Amino acid sequence: MTSTRFASDPFVVGKSKPHPEPRPIAAEESLCPVVSHEWVNAEYRHLVVQASPKALAVTPGQFFNLLCPSPDEGELFFRRPQSIYRIDREAGRLEFLYKCVGRGTHGLAQLEKGDELNMVGPLGIGFHLDPGWRHIVVLGRGVGIATLGPISQLARENGVGVTAILSARNPDFVMADALFREAGDVVSVLDTDGSSAVENVELILRQLIAEHRADAFFTCGSNRLFMLMKRLGKQHGIPGQVAMEQVMACGLGPCYVCVRTFEVNGKKELRRVCIEGPVFDMQEAIGW
Ligand SMILES: Cc1cc2nc3c(=O)[nH]c(=O)nc-3n(C[C@H](O)[C@H](O)[C@H](O)COP(=O)(O)OP(=O)(O)OC[C@H]3O[C@@H](n4cnc5c(N)ncnc54)[C@H](O)[C@@H]3O)c2cc1C
Ligand code: FES
Repeated sequence: MTSTRFASDPFVVGKSKPHPEPRPIAAEESLCPVVSHEWVNAEYRHLVVQASPKALAVTPGQFFNLLCPSPDEGELFFRRPQSIYRIDREAGRLEFLYKCVGRGTHGLAQLEKGDELNMVGPLGIGFHLDPGWRHIVVLGRGVGIATLGPISQLARENGVGVTAILSARNPDFVMADALFREAGDVVSVLDTDGSSAVENVELILRQLIAEHRADAFFTCGSNRLFMLMKRLGKQHGIPGQVAMEQVMACGLGPCYVCVRTFEVNGKKELRRVCIEGPVFDMQEAIGW
């Protein structure tokens, strides 16, 4: 793939020279060599790319819009949004953890080491970490687990304790527990033994609140778990942030495909998940 296919030149990692003056826009299109691309289990793949300096400025909760190769004879018209799973600034690498679900992700799965991935980003507004917090709780399920990796990394780098509650169908789908263990404590809850039931997760959260280990809540990937955190956050005055996964088209703001309703000070408000999110205040977000 060469840069001449594009209307404006993408940044080609390993070939383009970094721009001497940072350009005012925060995102760019870049061609990133694939460093590794492995199956994690029957459904998820772990993709590592060498990234451009601008892409490496990504913050936890932000995402990239990936141009996935077509898996068949047809075209793929839209890019696919994927949040960043791990940032390795020292090695200049970015990592994605994604589920193969449809044509885009099955096409993406064909990329091999040495191929180039075309990415646009970093996009959206990510998580924030308040300097006053000493211990946070992250609660993820399915693809949502990937999105919570970088905020856990950031918390650890800032000396903030992390409890990660990872919800999954069975032990094979408790992904990334090594990354979360590096950041703090991990509690896995599973469908197979019933421990992922909302009532049980509620007991775990209530225990953390009682132990003063829940200064803030972060969640992604499950509506019922989001609603649980929202309810407990409201009851106990614990601030929370939710990363929303919403079907997108442009990922940049103009198409309005990703609009969702929010409730702000008792009034309904429409917001675009791609540009005003994907991370939102938990009390303002409405379940899906
Ligand atoms: C901000 C954001 C971050 C995400 N991060 C991750 C991640 O880290 N790991 C992961 O596995 N998945 C993530 N997703 C979901 C991922 O984008 C979809 O699984 C993927 O787009 C499906 O594409 P597909 O062509 O394989 O499936 P199809 O179902 O064939 O997709 C068809 C169309 O719908 C859109 N679409 C379908 N499902 C979703 C969805 N859940 N969210 C948004 N758009 C969707 C696609 O972009 C495409 O335009 C994220 C979604 C968003 C919005
Ligand atoms: S996806 Fe186009 S405005 Fe959000």
